[in-house]
Amino acid sequence: MKEAETSRAVTLDIRGKSRQFDIDNPELPGWIKDHALNSGGFPYDDKMDKQKYRKQLEKLQVELVKVQYWLKSSGKRVIALFEGRDAAGKGGMISSIRAFLNPRSAHIVALDKPTDRELGQWYFQRYIAHFPSAGEIVLFDRSWYNRAIVEPVMGFCTPQQYEDFLKAVPRFEDTLHDEGFIFFKFWLDIGREMQLKRFHDRRHEPLKVWKLSPMDIAALGKWDEYTEKRDVMLDRTHNEETPWVVVRANDKRRARINLIRHMLLSLDYDGKDKDAIGEIDDKILGFGPNFLS
Ligand code: ADP
Ligand code: AMP
Ligand code: MLT
Repeated sequence: MKEAETSRAVTLDIRGKSRQFDIDNPELPGWIKDHALNSGGFPYDDKMDKQKYRKQLEKLQVELVKVQYWLKSSGKRVIALFEGRDAAGKGGMISSIRAFLNPRSAHIVALDKPTDRELGQWYFQRYIAHFPSAGEIVLFDRSWYNRAIVEPVMGFCTPQQYEDFLKAVPRFEDTLHDEGFIFFKFWLDIGREMQLKRFHDRRHEPLKVWKLSPMDIAALGKWDEYTEKRDVMLDRTHNEETPWVVVRANDKRRARINLIRHMLLSLDYDGKDKDAIGEIDDKILGFGPNFLS
C-alpha cells in the first residue's frame, strides 16, 4: 500500500498562530515540545520526579491490595470508568491501578466499536454485561460516555441519540448508585500540544505505534468540537451522587498518584494507612465542570 505518499500534514490554529503539523515528520516541532507540559493551563513546569513517583506509587499499590482483600470480605462491587481525549493516558492509568491486583477479581474492559448486533440493543446493554459481581472491581477504558463525545463529534450517532443519551445518563447512573455499586468516573484532561506530542510519539515509537488510530488522525482538526462536547458532558452529567472527578493529566505521574489517592480515600477499607496515601493536590484533581474553568 502507498499510504505514505499521501501527506497527512494539517494546518492548525494554536495559541492564535497558524501552525503546520505533519505527524509523519520524525522531528517534533519546537512549538509543541516547548509547550506540551504546560498546555491547557497545566499548573507545573516540570514532571514529578521519577524516584519520588515510583516510591509513592508503590505505597499506593500496597493500599490497593488492601482494598482487594476488603472487597472480597465485604462483597462490595466497584466500577471505575476512565474518559479523556485520545492520548489522555487512560490505558496507562488503568494499568498502574491494575498492576498488583488479582486478574480474577480486577477486570479491565475496553470495548471495540459496537457490532451490528450491539447496535440493535439498548445502548447501555453491552457495558452492563461487564459489570462486577460481589468482590470485584471493573475498570472501563472508555465507556458509555463515547456517546457524549467521540460519537457525536465523529458522526457515529444522530443528534437525537446524543440528546437522548444526555437525558438517560443521570437516571442510569442513579440506578447504579441505588443498587449499591461503588462508582467512579474520571475525566483525564490534557492540553492540545500535549496531545500532539503524544500522537507524534505514538507514530514514531515502535512500542506505541499500535495506539495510533485513524480516530486520532481525525481528531487533529476537531479539538474545539471535543472541548465543547466535554464541557456539555461535565455540565449535564455531574452530580453529587455520581460526580465527575477531573484530573489534569499532562504529567502522567502526578495524574496517577492523585487519582489513586482519591480512590483510596473514598473507600472504607480495613487497615487504611492515611500517611501512606498522602494528600491530594487540588491543583491536579478536582470535581465537575468548574474545575477546568
Ligand atoms: P482508543 O482511543 O480507545 O484506542 P480509537 O481512538 O480508535 O480508540 O476510537 C475511539 C472510540 O471511538 C473507541 O471507543 C471506538 O470504539 C469508538 N468508535 C470508533 N469507530 C466507531 C464507530 N464507527 N461507531 C461507534 N464508535 C466508534
Ligand atoms: P499500510 O502500512 O499502508 O498498509 O497501512 C496500514 C494502516 O496503518 C492503515 O490503516 C493506515 O491508516 C495506518 N498508517 C499508514 N501510514 C501510517 C503512518 N505513517 N503512521 C501511522 N499509521 C499509518
Ligand atoms: C488514551 O488515552 O488514548 C489511551 O488510553 C492510551 C493511553 O494513552 O494510554
